[in-house]
Amino acid sequence: MAQDKRMWGGRFTEVTDHQVADFTASVEVDRTMALEDVHGSIAHVVMLGAQGILTEDEARRIVQGLRGIETDIQAGCFRWRNDLEDVHMNIEHALTDRIGPLGGKLHTARSRNDQVATDLRLWLRKAVQEIIHALQAFRTVLVDLAETHLDVIMPGYTHLQVAQPVLLAHHILAYYEMFTRDEARFGESLKRIGVSPLGAGALAGTGFPIDRRKTAALLGFTAVSRNSMDAVASRDFTMEFLSHCAIAMVHLSRLSEELILWSSQEFGFVTLPDSHTTGSSIMPQKKNPDVCELVRGKTGGVCGNLMAQLMMMKGLPLAYNRDMQEDKAGVFEAQRTLLNALQLYASMLPTLQVHADRMREAAGRSYSNATDLADYLARKGTPFREAHEVTGRLVALCLKEGLALESLTLERMQTLSSLIDADIYEHLALAQVVNARTSYGGTARAQVEAQVSRARQALKEQRQPGGG
Ligand code: ARG
Repeated sequence: MAQDKRMWGGRFTEVTDHQVADFTASVEVDRTMALEDVHGSIAHVVMLGAQGILTEDEARRIVQGLRGIETDIQAGCFRWRNDLEDVHMNIEHALTDRIGPLGGKLHTARSRNDQVATDLRLWLRKAVQEIIHALQAFRTVLVDLAETHLDVIMPGYTHLQVAQPVLLAHHILAYYEMFTRDEARFGESLKRIGVSPLGAGALAGTGFPIDRRKTAALLGFTAVSRNSMDAVASRDFTMEFLSHCAIAMVHLSRLSEELILWSSQEFGFVTLPDSHTTGSSIMPQKKNPDVCELVRGKTGGVCGNLMAQLMMMKGLPLAYNRDMQEDKAGVFEAQRTLLNALQLYASMLPTLQVHADRMREAAGRSYSNATDLADYLARKGTPFREAHEVTGRLVALCLKEGLALESLTLERMQTLSSLIDADIYEHLALAQVVNARTSYGGTARAQVEAQVSRARQALKEQRQPGGG
């Protein structure tokens, strides 16, 4: 490969080894931030002009050149060169091609170290906003789904063993809460992402009379980093971002696992739409929940992206180290994966077919009303521990004879506790078991309806101008 002299080549007497050039190049990855790089450069040059570090005319011509490059990038006709190492030097090189040696003034009072941190923060700001919008849309889908199925009773599980019946809406709204917190986490991170590192230089600042507040304002940053070494050496904003991505993916993964179980022949609780499932190349009858499985599978990759970022940073002395070039690929990949998964789920869930009869049947089996018999006795004054024991013995008796609790005659129940009256059967009925749980945030229908309206209100407030 014929090499131009490298942009930093002054002190070198030999050309870079080809393998080294390939190994150190990052343009395939960091060109994702090409527009952010151009915008950062424009703000920098405008400031240099305003401060008299460049003449107004020089600044104007450089900005014009950069605008031309922006147009080429947007049109997809910018020629990226691997031998120019990274996005920054590709763009600076193209600028010099366009406007001549004046392009070489762009990098006055700047380093790629503050430049790359600026680009990544600009890129992340937009990326986080995309995720927030996707989360909002998805949360709306969850509330819609809950409201549609307010009357569906299903088994609630602990240890994946039937525990107590719940409303399907209640189960869905549990996920709504998780994704609401996920969204809040991303929202809160924006204030830490929105701090401008530009002007930190390589690590120590610069002697040129730059105006850091001006570049920050031009780029829409809300603050300026207070320490130039921290500005170029810290990546807690990417670790935080990946951590939020990983948590949200884990939530999606748990939902995926449930949909995979629920759509199995053994559960038969739901049918996934044909549009979001795939077939088998050999078994003609198969319809597989591949989207759910891939979301579950890709969660491993996103958690890995977080781990890779943490491990990449953990031994780095201050300030910039080239290791940090490895920060971007995982960030871009995790963002894309989470965004895709949220969008797919938002389009899949509204067409989910729910088999209320199957859910109800499963909810009524397996002594899911046993706690209610114990509660009944406790309300009549039996200490709960004793009520638990009595009920357990009744369950054991039923298990032996293959009966449900509510199929026992009153007389047989009374052999274990004389406090049991004929009204016990009302308390053991499935709908009553659900509706008995009226504590705040419980599964009683009135409580679940209240959850739906709180969620609707929260989503509405967010949609209003100034909302989160
Ligand atoms: N490509 C580099 C990165 O992503 C840009 C900064 C390079 N700085 C340096 N001194 N080599 O981190």
